[in-house]
Amino acid sequence: MAHLSEDNLERARRLVAVYPERRSALIPLCHLAQAQDGWLTEEAMEDVAELTGVTPAEVRGTASFYDMLHTEPVGRHVVAVCTNIACMLGGAYELLEHVEERLGVRVGQTTADGEFTLEEAECLAGCDTAPCVQVNHRFFGPLDADGFDRLVEDLASGALAHEVPRHGILCRVERTVGLRAHGAAAGAGDAPGAPGAHGDDGGVR
Ligand code: FES
Repeated sequence: MAHLSEDNLERARRLVAVYPERRSALIPLCHLAQAQDGWLTEEAMEDVAELTGVTPAEVRGTASFYDMLHTEPVGRHVVAVCTNIACMLGGAYELLEHVEERLGVRVGQTTADGEFTLEEAECLAGCDTAPCVQVNHRFFGPLDADGFDRLVEDLASGALAHEVPRHGILCRVERTVGLRAHGAAAGAGDAPGAPGAHGDDGGVR
């Protein structure tokens, strides 16, 4: 176990403990590792494998299935432009063209300064604000070219630092209720969700 920090290792062990099967903690642990590094490094996946009792290949195989988990380096901000039907009708392809021009990268690429990775997304469930963009899984929309430029300026200046933490951090609040450690004795008032029940969200800060 070489890569996760002491603090994250402790949180990972608490997470594993809330599941009847160690391997059930695989995805929460991937989010935890991604919160530490911004993406899932090979070393982190080895740690996750050891903690959950699976092989590193199984961790990679699972992580690579999910859009929210990145097994290759990404920028500090991952910008996802939805081009599905509602957004397409609202001008998503024109917006995407502008975004590529503004950032100087194509879909799938990261800017040279490591600040932005651009993705094209399927429906993000923000159709009511089409055309819709996510930055590190935070919603922005409806956006036009000017709106996107303002968004980039705010991200670059740090004006949105509180609202949009660097990629990998899903939330800054660490959950301490709502899950119970496996094997913990159930007592009066100790129902799931009750204060005092143990729990932790991988990637939650
Ligand atoms: S079609 Fe873009 S968010 Fe649904």
